[in-house]
Formats: sequence, structure tokens, C-alpha cells
Amino acid sequence: MSRYNSYVVILLLAMALSESSVVLGEYHVHIVNGLGNNNILNVHCQSKDNDLGWHALAKGEDFHWSFNMNFFKSTLFFCFMQWKEVKGSFKVFSNDMGLNTVCPGSVCTYRADENGLSFYNNSSKTYELLYEWEK
Ligand SMILES: *[C@@H]1O[C@H](CO)[C@@H](O)[C@H](O)[C@H]1NC(C)=O
Ligand SMILES: *[C@@H]1O[C@H](CO)[C@@H](O)[C@H](O)[C@H]1NC(C)=O
Repeated sequence: MSRYNSYVVILLLAMALSESSVVLGEYHVHIVNGLGNNNILNVHCQSKDNDLGWHALAKGEDFHWSFNMNFFKSTLFFCFMQWKEVKGSFKVFSNDMGLNTVCPGSVCTYRADENGLSFYNNSSKTYELLYEWEK
């Protein structure tokens, strides 16, 4: 291999590695109870391999966990949520969600309120509704 070719191969390798480090690596998911009237939010999140159990969140409380995206980028977390007679089952982490938007800087910040589940859009600095509660 010529010196030029080895240089190109090394450059491509470095690009591939830095590209994958964007998606692989550690992620943090936060679920915040943004409901009014002191409503308790019950949350049960799980992936194929991890069952995080039920958590009862008081107003403003933040349930959060960290994990590494698996090598195949197939890590997927679902959360079941319920308050009063209202419930929903929402995908909160998956490579097909547009993680750069939903999880900027590898942090996914969700807030549940009367409308449903919103994510924090770091560009607009506002919460944007992603899922509505089941009707
Ligand atoms: C969030 O947006 C600001 C600009 O509004 C930017 O400087 C910052 O790097 C962003 N944070 C992440 C984690 O992407
Ligand atoms: C996030 O906010 C930016 C700036 O307001 C907007 O252009 C973009 O569409 C928003 N993203 C989503 C997924 O809502």
C-alpha cells in the first residue's frame, strides 16, 4: 500500500470510529412528572434485557437511568405510564427516533403532563409533545 493509501485508510477508520461514537456510548434518559394538582405519575420502563420496575413520581420528580447503546444500535426502551385513569405506553429510546433531536448530547429529557409525553428540544428550548395519552 502506498503511503497515500494508508493515510486514506487511517482517515476513513478514524471517521468510522468517531461516527459510531456519536451513537454508541452512554445515554441518559430522564422522565419528569410535570402533572399539576399533585398527581402521582407511575412509570415502568424496560428494554429487552432491563426491567427498571415501577416508580411513583411526585410532582416535579425525575426518574432517570443510564445505559450504553449496544453495538448493533438496537437498544430500545419503552415506558408504561399511568396517572389517575390515564395511561400510555411510549417508546422513549430507539435509534429510529432521531436521537440527535430527542437526546441531544446523549441526554433524553421527557416531561409527562396532562397532554402526554413531551421531549425537550434543545434548539427551541421548549418541551414539544411527542405522544398523547391513550384515548
Ligand atoms: C443545545 O443548544 C445550544 C445552542 O442553543 C448548544 O450550544 C448546545 O451545545 C446544545 N446542547 C447539546 C447537548 O446539544
Ligand atoms: C426543535 O426546535 C427547532 C427550532 O425551533 C425546530 O426547527 C425543530 O423542528 C424542532 N424539532 C422538533 C423535532 O420538533
